[in-house]
Amino acid sequence: MPISVLPSGAALGAEIDVDLSQSIDDAMFREIVDAFHDNIVVVFRNQHLSNAQHVAFSRRFGELEIHIVKKYLLSDYPEILLVTNIRNDAGENIGLADAGFTWHSDVSYRKHPSRCSLLYAIEVPEMDGTTLGSTLFANTIRAYEALPRSMKTWLTGRKAIHRYSERMRVANSPRPKLTAAQLAETPDIAHPIVRTHPFTGRRSLYVTKGECIGIEGVPDDEGRAVIEALHDHCIKDAFLYRHTWRVGDLLMWDNAAAMHLAICDYDLPQRRLMHRTTVIGSVPF
Ligand SMILES: [Fe+2]
Repeated sequence: MPISVLPSGAALGAEIDVDLSQSIDDAMFREIVDAFHDNIVVVFRNQHLSNAQHVAFSRRFGELEIHIVKKYLLSDYPEILLVTNIRNDAGENIGLADAGFTWHSDVSYRKHPSRCSLLYAIEVPEMDGTTLGSTLFANTIRAYEALPRSMKTWLTGRKAIHRYSERMRVANSPRPKLTAAQLAETPDIAHPIVRTHPFTGRRSLYVTKGECIGIEGVPDDEGRAVIEALHDHCIKDAFLYRHTWRVGDLLMWDNAAAMHLAICDYDLPQRRLMHRTTVIGSVPF
């Protein structure tokens, strides 16, 4: 029986009705992958996953990344990064409290950026019956397709320079400062602004205001202005999906076809706790 896929009705996003704690044969997995590529963001609701199950399902999409901020990894499962605003008794964050407060595509600062990320919701903040801490996703394939032809032509062959430390510029970021060794491990990297999806061949915009500092061979001011304009274009309502989290959601997104933004509209004692795995992708082309 085919799996049930319910599109969100927005520019991207769908719910897939599969219990990921059960065994998934290759035929069903292929259906999941097809639905994922079609919808870019997919959510499996009401999951009850062990860390091992979360890791095992993620691994079927490729090798998993061990995040650069080691202290936020689960000791038994270093493939799992804690994304949370929870603090320990000493008042220290126990996970990445900055869930990505600028628009970005995960790990774009690497030569091999992420194919996809899988976020499992364990605690979701709420106030007066309203769910907080939603995540916005933008469909960068549709955004590319909607560009004027002249802009598509201008962008052809151009590369944007991605810098990990750019995110440190967000005012009051709770993200730990990178050490000299971590900075040395993440040099600036140039990726095509128009990238071709490695599985579907579709073209998308791969440029984010949060992490791109300029365009190769273009004067700084002009490069920044183009990045800004592309950013504003990508986040038009017509290209967005807003995910309202529920405990038990396992949500995955395609980093080659979307960028995302975490909405930080909550604070302790409202707790948000997510487990993230990140699948390593191929070199963008
Ligand atoms: Fe992210």
